[in-house]
Amino acid sequence: MAIRIAVLGTGNMGSAIAERLANTGFTIFLWNRTIDKAKTLGTKINATVYDTPWKAIENADIAISLVSDDNALYNIISQMRRSDGLLFINSSTITPKASIIASKQLKELGACYVEAPIIGNPRNLIQGDAIFLVAGERNCVRYSMGILMSAGKIIEIGEESYKASIAKLMYNTMLISSIQLLSESLTLAEAYGIDHEKVKEIMSNTVFKQFIDKYLDRITNENYPASFKISLAAKDLEYASQAAYDANIVLPLVRTSAQTFKQADIFGLNESDYTKIFNFINPKKFKITYNSNK
Ligand SMILES: NC(=O)c1ccc[n+]([C@@H]2O[C@H](COP(=O)([O-])OP(=O)(O)OC[C@H]3O[C@@H](n4cnc5c(N)ncnc54)[C@H](OP(=O)(O)O)[C@@H]3O)[C@@H](O)[C@H]2O)c1
Repeated sequence: MAIRIAVLGTGNMGSAIAERLANTGFTIFLWNRTIDKAKTLGTKINATVYDTPWKAIENADIAISLVSDDNALYNIISQMRRSDGLLFINSSTITPKASIIASKQLKELGACYVEAPIIGNPRNLIQGDAIFLVAGERNCVRYSMGILMSAGKIIEIGEESYKASIAKLMYNTMLISSIQLLSESLTLAEAYGIDHEKVKEIMSNTVFKQFIDKYLDRITNENYPASFKISLAAKDLEYASQAAYDANIVLPLVRTSAQTFKQADIFGLNESDYTKIFNFINPKKFKITYNSNK
């Protein structure tokens, strides 16, 4: 019998991993807070959809959560019951504190907890070339490898689950802040009449070549679809700042960048791709629309 996997959360990343795992031969059960999204995906990949996380989990061998943040993960765990023998993999980007809490609560329920946040986007998951930063008790990590390796490569971080969330926040502070810096550099050049092509020519002759090749067009393309939302980038920088605070260190650039992304989130760019921070910074592009729900 095929291994049964409950995918909890069918947003951009959850849908992609569910599709990849279904195509690799696993039996997939789906749950999403907004059930219609899960139903559409269920039809596409031939997966059974449930209306509570517990119903999706109870007959599964493995659960994978891919939801927005700490609270979303707590929401799932709060609806679980005794889960002896279950492997629970969390691939959402969360705080190290939440990882410690989730690991403890899952253990109390009899489950094996593995933290496995992802470097890569939905396309990487579908293609099977994402990177999983994996931490947890050795036997649980070993058990998780067969599944995760069908969607990407694994980098082991250690036995303490929270180290995987820190490793992910470490990577994202670098990536997201760099996108902001490139947006600011472009805006400065533009203000003095140096166009994007000239910026590309200059940067391509420097250590920044690979970064420019990958991100310059994405930053400036108005129609680039949102695969990683500004609201999630703001959350990751906020989580990195919190983690730094908890470790008695200050990361000035990350803190500033977190504020910029949070403002963009509040001023209505929350659903835009995170590279659209360029539009928020660039005075020619940004028009304020205040989102009163935040
Ligand atoms: N997108 C990327 O490129 C990328 C890359 C690496 C890591 N990540 C991380 O992966 C995770 C998912 O990202 P995504 O891009 O898939 O986000 P997304 O498309 O915005 O999907 C978010 C998911 O979380 C669910 N959710 C939100 N709040 C919830 C709550 N309180 N209780 C239960 N479910 C809740 C949403 O349910 P509804 O549909 O009901 O709103 C949805 O299924 C995040 O932690 C993100 O930081 C994303």
